[in-house]
Amino acid sequence: MSISSEVQTENDDESRKWIDRIYKKAVLPIQINASSATYKIFREYIKSKYDDYEDAKKEGDRLLKKCSKELPDYLMQFDIPDNISLDVDFYETIIHYKTPVSLASYEGDMDIVLILARMGVNYTKKTAMRDEGKGNDPIRMAEREDGFENAIGLPGPSAEAVRSELEKSRFWEKYPDLRMTLSVGGSTKEEYLDVFRELHDDVPYLEYVDFEINVSCPNTDDGQKLCEKQEGCDTYENLEKLLEEIREIDNDIPIYVKLSPDFSDEKILELAEICKRHKMGIVLTNTKYVDSDVLSTGGGGYSGPKNKERALQLVNLVHEKYKEYDKYSNLEFDKIPLKICGGMETCEDVLRAQNAGGNVPVQMGYAMFKDPYGAIVKTNYGLSKFCEKNGISSLNDFHDLAKEVRGKYAV
Ligand SMILES: Cc1cc2nc3c(=O)[nH]c(=O)nc-3n(C[C@H](O)[C@H](O)[C@H](O)COP(=O)(O)O)c2cc1C
Repeated sequence: MSISSEVQTENDDESRKWIDRIYKKAVLPIQINASSATYKIFREYIKSKYDDYEDAKKEGDRLLKKCSKELPDYLMQFDIPDNISLDVDFYETIIHYKTPVSLASYEGDMDIVLILARMGVNYTKKTAMRDEGKGNDPIRMAEREDGFENAIGLPGPSAEAVRSELEKSRFWEKYPDLRMTLSVGGSTKEEYLDVFRELHDDVPYLEYVDFEINVSCPNTDDGQKLCEKQEGCDTYENLEKLLEEIREIDNDIPIYVKLSPDFSDEKILELAEICKRHKMGIVLTNTKYVDSDVLSTGGGGYSGPKNKERALQLVNLVHEKYKEYDKYSNLEFDKIPLKICGGMETCEDVLRAQNAGGNVPVQMGYAMFKDPYGAIVKTNYGLSKFCEKNGISSLNDFHDLAKEVRGKYAV
């Protein structure tokens, strides 16, 4: 290369860096804030037109799909910054996540998922059941001042239909940087196993997915049955047997078990021991049961910011506080992969989750409904700014930062 072309290349690099800095400082914030504000205005307007939140969501989804075809890409599409990845050590298999932000399990519509993925988020599919189900009667979802109450009751297509919808979506080809988690539900052990096999056996997407076993739904008769002790038995044999048989089908694939914030600390630790024995991670947590004067069932699960402190406390319990219990102190839970879910909404929450011991992407539920631009894009870019400022190139390096920096995000 001649000296003049070397100088030219250096100048090009400098200009590119300069344009990139201007874009991030001046253009991107406007782009994100404008998209976020527009979304929130439309959401409030649509909500005001319907008595039942589910009807408002259907209309909102219809409009979002229409907009995604008609609006310019720059309003809906955002790159994931390169410095916020997370490598998860799943019992000695390393799984790479380009972003540490993930949808919680609630969305079943793949068209909506593909739109949210354009903003840069991993995906957790709504729990699949073996047979098609209607769920509970309306009203089964209500927005309160600060969060949702829901008693949807796991409605949706059969696991067979879910699988064919997933295959058709080609999510893993369109978004190779993002991972999918498939949530498995059931009423009996056999039903869970049927759903797992349906979504697992001979599928084209297996290397791109994790599984999540939902044994903590508070809105169906049997949603938490697998986490109960059988009469006359003082261990959690139901869960033990389920996990054992799932591991007979696939001994290696990343699998998480989603637990309830309503379980006692002691019960969470007993279940964590079973998960560890079967090389499984844990999701902490599902919705918290609350009585409700709106829902047809008289009660349901709460989603929203009030879940945050309990979720952080439970993640920290399994990660390190278990050592304070004589019964568990020698069990080396530190390595259990932990996904946090509950009231998460900002970049600060992701950093607090890291401090608590949450070492897998953070799942967000209510925050996604409220403002996906805030939850996904602001969090991704907020984390990127944090990493840049502190000179780290991935979120794994967060743990090597000085105590004073990490301490700002106390559990
Ligand atoms: C409408 C709705 C549907 C949900 N469906 C499921 C589900 O199918 N499976 C599941 O494991 N959790 C489900 N959840 C619970 C969420 O995945 C999440 O655990 C819960 O909302 C707590 O997170 P958040 O406080 O960030 O919302 C649902 C929540 C809502 C609001």
